Amino acid sequence: MRRNIFLLLALAIGMNTQAQDKTFVISVNKPIAPIQPTMWGVFFEDINFGADGGIYAELVKNRSFEFTKPLMGWKVDQQPVEEGAVLIQNRGMANTANPRFARITVNNRNKGTLSLTNEGFRGMGIKKGLRYDFSVLYRSISGKVKLYVELLNANKEIIGSTSVVPGEVKDWSKLTASFAAGQTEEKGSMRLTFEGNGIIDLDMISLFPGDTWKNRPGGMRADMVQMLADMKPGFIRFPGGCIVEGYDLAQRYQWKKTVGPLEERQLLINRWNYEFAHRPAPDYFQTFGLGFFEYFQLCSDIGAEPLPILNCGMACQFNSGEVVPLDQIQPYIEDALDLIEFANGAITTRWGKLRAQMGHPEPFHLKMLGVGNENWGPQYLDRFKVFQKALKEKHPEIKLIASSGTDPVGERFNLLNTELRALNTDFIDEHYYRPPQFFFSNINRYDNYPRNGSKVFAGEYASHVPNTNGAVKSNWLAALSEAAFLTGLERNAEVVQMASYAPLFAHYDGWQWAPDLIWVNNLKIVGSPSYHVQKLYSVNKGTTVIPIERDNKIIDGKDSLYATAAIDAASKEIIVKIVNALPGEQKISLTFEGIRKLAATGVHTVLQNDDLNKINTIADPDAIAPKATNIKISGKKQSIAVKGYSFNVIRIKYS
Ligand code: AHR
Repeated sequence: MRRNIFLLLALAIGMNTQAQDKTFVISVNKPIAPIQPTMWGVFFEDINFGADGGIYAELVKNRSFEFTKPLMGWKVDQQPVEEGAVLIQNRGMANTANPRFARITVNNRNKGTLSLTNEGFRGMGIKKGLRYDFSVLYRSISGKVKLYVELLNANKEIIGSTSVVPGEVKDWSKLTASFAAGQTEEKGSMRLTFEGNGIIDLDMISLFPGDTWKNRPGGMRADMVQMLADMKPGFIRFPGGCIVEGYDLAQRYQWKKTVGPLEERQLLINRWNYEFAHRPAPDYFQTFGLGFFEYFQLCSDIGAEPLPILNCGMACQFNSGEVVPLDQIQPYIEDALDLIEFANGAITTRWGKLRAQMGHPEPFHLKMLGVGNENWGPQYLDRFKVFQKALKEKHPEIKLIASSGTDPVGERFNLLNTELRALNTDFIDEHYYRPPQFFFSNINRYDNYPRNGSKVFAGEYASHVPNTNGAVKSNWLAALSEAAFLTGLERNAEVVQMASYAPLFAHYDGWQWAPDLIWVNNLKIVGSPSYHVQKLYSVNKGTTVIPIERDNKIIDGKDSLYATAAIDAASKEIIVKIVNALPGEQKISLTFEGIRKLAATGVHTVLQNDDLNKINTIADPDAIAPKATNIKISGKKQSIAVKGYSFNVIRIKYS
């Protein structure tokens, strides 16, 4: 890490920073370009247990026994053992979406001799006093069975319970019961204990906390959604990421299998289950309880534009690289057309009707669609062209996002960037997972991009500090370098019209990829320093970029200072963002031109730490968090001190 510090210091070699005049001139009356409402958004993928075991609040893992190992996550206890007491049954080929259920044969008079315990996703987060909603699909085969539902703490002590007596029904029915927990536990579990004599079939065994987002039954973890809502994202890109592509085409993400009744959403292995040999997650599957309807609903809840990314007929080129022959691509095109109908179509249409049945008769106002994720090469171009033709013919109103591959430079990138621009593609999706130095030294990346034609979607980026891993990778150096780089995105808002950090969520006990924007355990949540950078950009977006210059030049790294400025037309505020990547404080004089006057006070928000290794943790979640102070303004000049290693946002009203 010391090397990183020296790296930063090297940026300033030969400069006596305090001696130089640091007047930043902000020309309020010289608008450069509008900043799109979509400028700062969110990238969502079910990676690092971000969806199942994360934002999707289901606490039971493998609730429907569909994992490759049907009893993974479950422990059967029985005294004395009777063979066949718990049998996994197959429904047969007739129902491939939900092939398995459990048949329980109970043969005891006293409670406690046969039980099934679910371990949850790295345990279950249980909160004292909170209501828990248990549900199960069941049918009675013979006799009568009573079910005790018990929450256990890490010591296997009961911390909440209820009991239910399923009716003697022969058709699959739903049974529900709610009860409160008496203790908080991060690593809880749920035990089902059977009593009586009889045979009962069980499926979709489920437990949700009562405090889901908007209190929706079967909904999302409210604290995780709230973190997103707080960012006021302009869009949400979903469902990924590599899971869109799949290891092979059979494992690609298919949105139609993620909508409709839960028990009919066909489980799929998550590619992050096995992708990294050093971070295996054999229990990682996609139940699709969080499916396309829920993604759209989330967007609508928090005012973000939905940005679904669909498979383009190509599996991950790092894995199988399987492609669908061009003369067989029609089903993939149909998926895209049907998705537009699902999102926007009248409720009399097939897919619009399903949306209404799921609870949202109003359209979701889909305006953008991604064709492929990180695909590249002539094969991608061939397939993109077919999509573009078909989609633009029927839906010219939908903007299409094309992939530029995995890297922001090199032959692959150049081929796609050139060809896609020639096709007048609406947006080109650029990805960069690079070390901090890349971010500090690419501030000018977009300065010379064409102003007309295709726009840029910086769809996945994160600064990767070398020689770190896991949660410590989400450190202040990474965030500071991103803050500097993003000045170049905002300054070029004419070109870059959407940007999102990736990946979004990671579970401390279940991550595969780091760094990540937000870290969680089963009970708590921590925004990384990068989260605060993204949020500060997003909530201080402004509506128009304006010039901010030093010696008539953009501020792109001299004295390790980086700056951008905007106005917010609605609130009549000037918003200045400054990054100081040196360890010491620097004094800057802000001079405002093209205005009548400034308000008497402004707000200076600072994200700062002297330690570039610093991270936010469960124990200290706000170690690096923004602090706002009021500043007094007199006249049209304002001197401002920017601390060492700091990201500063200054808002001042003007007339
Ligand atoms: O964000 C993690 C992964 O990085 C995404 O799934 C993929 O698109 C990229 O390679």
